[in-house]
Amino acid sequence: MKVTRMKYDLLIKDGKLVTSTSISNCTIGINNGKIFALHKHSIGLEGEQEIDASGNIILPGIIDPHVHFSLPVNPTLKSSDSFESGSKAAAFGGMTTFLDFTTPTIGTTLKDQLETRIEEAKSSCIDYSFHIVVTDASPTTLGEISHLAHEGFPSFKIFTTYGSRGLMLTDDELGIVFNQVKDAGGIILAHCEDESLVVENQRALIKEGHIAPEFHADARPAIAEAEAIARVALLAGNTKTKLYVVHVSTKMGLLKIRAAKATGTPIIAETCPHYLSLNREMLNGPKGHLYLMTPPLREQSDCTSLWTGLTEEVLDTIGTDHCPFYQKDKLAERFIDAPMGVMGVETLLPILYTDGVLTDRLTLFQLVKFCSENPARAFGLFPQKGALELGSDADLVLIDPKAEKIVSSEDLHMNVDYNIFEGRNLSGWPLKVISRGEIIVDGGDFVCDAHRGILLRRKGH
Ligand code: URP
Ligand code: ZN
Ligand code: ZN
Repeated sequence: MKVTRMKYDLLIKDGKLVTSTSISNCTIGINNGKIFALHKHSIGLEGEQEIDASGNIILPGIIDPHVHFSLPVNPTLKSSDSFESGSKAAAFGGMTTFLDFTTPTIGTTLKDQLETRIEEAKSSCIDYSFHIVVTDASPTTLGEISHLAHEGFPSFKIFTTYGSRGLMLTDDELGIVFNQVKDAGGIILAHCEDESLVVENQRALIKEGHIAPEFHADARPAIAEAEAIARVALLAGNTKTKLYVVHVSTKMGLLKIRAAKATGTPIIAETCPHYLSLNREMLNGPKGHLYLMTPPLREQSDCTSLWTGLTEEVLDTIGTDHCPFYQKDKLAERFIDAPMGVMGVETLLPILYTDGVLTDRLTLFQLVKFCSENPARAFGLFPQKGALELGSDADLVLIDPKAEKIVSSEDLHMNVDYNIFEGRNLSGWPLKVISRGEIIVDGGDFVCDAHRGILLRRKGH
């Protein structure tokens, strides 16, 4: 009898496969965009396309749970990466999925806002979904929360600040929205800073002529973050609503997360590479405006505490909060008038590999947890995404651990003319990136259709 040997669509041979719990020598057979087989050896196996991954580390594709592509910050300015340029840069950074946000627009429904963003995101080259931004607790909004959660968009973003931009919810509204999201099986994402503290600080600083970028950090102190985290965590605990705190930037905020977890609050916490690897000294001097983001960069002691928060897994995910602007657009006489946000999708992996894994602050298992598995679990994508199980999407990133490269905005693909990590020599750059079984980045080349990304509808809790 003649036995016909199976030929995989893509065979990735003899790499070191890392999951959240194991590292093993592995050959991956991929069919129809899914992980079809995991073999110990490659002998006798064949693929239509084959990659020799010997010497390479293979991770699940990175999932960035927090990006802002084409974010309008005023009537004439948007963050500089479109979905097309931003998703391409993200792919070069080893990302295979991202989650962006809807844009609140007066006179439109949440559904309209989502549809507008879905239309814009059709130019993405990797897979994507959206968190729904909620800025009121009207009966119409509450009805839409249930509907959109049911339609596959069960994550809702609230702000405890940005009152002047019409984004902030009052405490009464927060309670109502939390209960509604809980009933819809959803999760709340919260930007946590106490509005009254920030507004009063800003007013006093500006009055005294303290308008330079460094004063942004004084206007938004650690206590503003900690107070708001404590408040929403209490609410989450009381209402038993799943809560995801975005961009934790301080030791004080981290302590509130730790305390909430200790009492059983269903809370998940994110930090960002810039809060780990940069401190507020970057805000001093003539280039300080290029490092303006909200919350601001903090003390070096906060960076150290956040690394410990990751090592001890008090923090759960790492997102980029990617929101770049050209240097000319970041310039403003007063810090309060500058557009906030920095770039990050292309450097997340090398920064975490270099400053985390190579310094023993993070294990490779933790890198996989924080950047793939935990975001996928939090936002209803697991195990289609964030896992390397049989049947999972074949989203993978291959790293040559021996390769190093110096960060230079000119060599990177993000649509912005500087980089906050410019000049740093980093390891852990992606060598090849595979999305649903298709090689999308190969060495320095982008080798796929620019618009091949798909919209992901997600499960609730
Ligand atoms: O400064 C930032 N992070 N801009 C983006 C919006 C936000 O608050 O995350
Ligand atoms: Zn935010
Ligand atoms: Zn953000």
